[in-house]
Amino acid sequence: MERTCYKLLTYVTLFCFLFISPPLVSSQLNYRFYDSSCPNLSKIVQQGVWSAIANDSRIAASLLRLHFHDCFVNGCDASVLLDDTSTLKGEKNAFPNKDSARGFEVIDKIKSNLEEACPSTVSCTDILTLAATSAVYFSGGPFWPVALGRRDGTTASEDAANDDLPSPFEPLENITAKFTAKGLNIKDVVVLSGAHTIGFAQCFTFKPRLFNFDDSGKPDPTLDTSFLTNLQSVCPNQADSDTKLAPLDPVTSTKFDNVYFKRLVNNSGLLQSDQVLMGDNRTASMVIGYSRFPYLFNKDFGESMVKMANIGVLTGQSGQIRKNCRVVN
Ligand code: HEM
Ligand SMILES: *[C@@H]1O[C@H](CO)[C@@H](O)[C@H](O)[C@H]1NC(C)=O
Ligand SMILES: *[C@@H]1O[C@H](CO)[C@@H](O)[C@H](O)[C@H]1NC(C)=O
Ligand SMILES: *[C@@H]1O[C@H](CO)[C@@H](O)[C@H](O)[C@H]1NC(C)=O
Ligand SMILES: *[C@@H]1O[C@H](CO)[C@@H](O)[C@H](O)[C@H]1NC(C)=O
Ligand SMILES: *[C@@H]1O[C@H](CO)[C@@H](O)[C@H](O)[C@H]1NC(C)=O
Repeated sequence: MERTCYKLLTYVTLFCFLFISPPLVSSQLNYRFYDSSCPNLSKIVQQGVWSAIANDSRIAASLLRLHFHDCFVNGCDASVLLDDTSTLKGEKNAFPNKDSARGFEVIDKIKSNLEEACPSTVSCTDILTLAATSAVYFSGGPFWPVALGRRDGTTASEDAANDDLPSPFEPLENITAKFTAKGLNIKDVVVLSGAHTIGFAQCFTFKPRLFNFDDSGKPDPTLDTSFLTNLQSVCPNQADSDTKLAPLDPVTSTKFDNVYFKRLVNNSGLLQSDQVLMGDNRTASMVIGYSRFPYLFNKDFGESMVKMANIGVLTGQSGQIRKNCRVVN
C-alpha cells in the first residue's frame, strides 16, 4: 500500500513537472525579481498609473494597448517606446501607432521616479507590463500577479509593427494567424479583444461600416440600426471626421467589465474586427460565454495577458536596462 502511494506520488510529481510547470520562457522570469533590488517598485508604478488616470480617465486604456503593441512587435522589449533617431527608426510612426499610441509620458514619469529609487535596475518593458496590469485593476478589472525580469531591446522595427499588429479591417482568419504566429490561439484573440471594454477609437478605424461596407455603398448589415444612426452622427461621411473619437464600449467606457461582449451579442461592436467574433461559430460561443459570466472573462483575461507578456522576452544577459525608455543606452 505504502509503496503504491510512493509510486503514485512519483508519477504525480513527474506529471506536475511535465505538464503543469509553466513554459520555459516564463520560468526565466520570476515574481520576486526586483524584491531586493527595488522593493518599492509596485508602489511606484501603481502611484504613477493612479495619478495618470486621475488626470485622464482614458489613459488606462492607452497603457493597456501600449503593452500589447510592445509585445506583438519583436516580443515584449519596450521597442514601442523608442523615439526615432538618425540611426534608429522606431515604431511610433508605424500605421497602428501613428497619432494613435499614447501613454509614453506616463511611462517616462514612472521611469524617472524609479531611476531615483533604484537606478538602472528596472527595465522599461517590465514597467509597461506592470502599468498595463495596474491600469486594468484600477479600472475595476481583475488583478493577476506578473512575473518580472524582462530586459529592454536595443532595436525597433517599423516594418514589424506594420506587419504583425492586427488591423481592424482584416478578416478573423488573418487576425487569428497573427496571434498564432506569436504563440497565442483563437481563444486569446477573443479574450484579449475584451480589452476593448475600455478606451476609444478614431472614426476612420470603423467608418466604412457606417457608409460603405465592403464597397456596397451601404452600411454593415450586421450593425444594430440605432447604434448605426448614433455613430453616423459622431462620424459624418466626410474626411474631417476621421480623427473624431468614439468609445469602444459606449455603455461603460472607463470600466473594465464584460459589457464589450454583451454589446457584441447585441450587434453593437464598434470595430469590424470586434463584431466578426460573432460571425464565426468557434468564437461566437466564447463571446456568449463571456457575456454571461464576468468572472470567467476576468480569469481568462489574466491568463491570456500572462501569455502575451511572455512573448519573445529577453532575459539574463540579453538586451539591457535602459536609463531612458525613449533611447537605447
Ligand atoms: C484583435 C485584434 C485587435 C485589433 C484589430 C485592434 C484594433 C484597435 C483599433 C483600431 C483601436 C483604435 C485605435 C485608434 O483609433 O487610434 C484600438 C484601440 C484599443 N485597443 Fe485594440 N485591437 C486589437 C486587439 C487588442 C488587444 C489584444 C488589446 C490589449 C490586450 C487591445 C487594447 C486596446 C485598447 C485598450 C484600445 C483603446 C486605446 C485608447 O483609448 O487609447 N486591442 N484597437
Ligand atoms: C520605499 O518607500 C518608503 C516610503 O514610501 C521609503 O521610506 C523607503 O526608503 C523606500 N525604500 C527604498 C529602498 O527606496
Ligand atoms: C493630463 O492629461 C492630458 C491629456 O492626456 C495630458 O496632455 C497632460 O500632459 C496630463 N497632465 C499630467 C500632469 O499628467
Ligand atoms: C489576409 O491574409 C491573406 C494571406 O496572408 C492576404 O493575402 C490578404 O490580403 C489578407 N487580407 C487582408 C484584408 O488583410
Ligand atoms: C442588448 O439588447 C437587449 C435587448 O434589446 C437590451 O435589453 C440590453 O440592454 C442590451 N445590452 C447591451 C449591453 O446593450
Ligand atoms: C455554424 O452555425 C450555423 C448555424 O448557426 C450552422 O449552420 C453551421 O453549420 C455551423 N458551422 C460550423 C462549422 O459548425
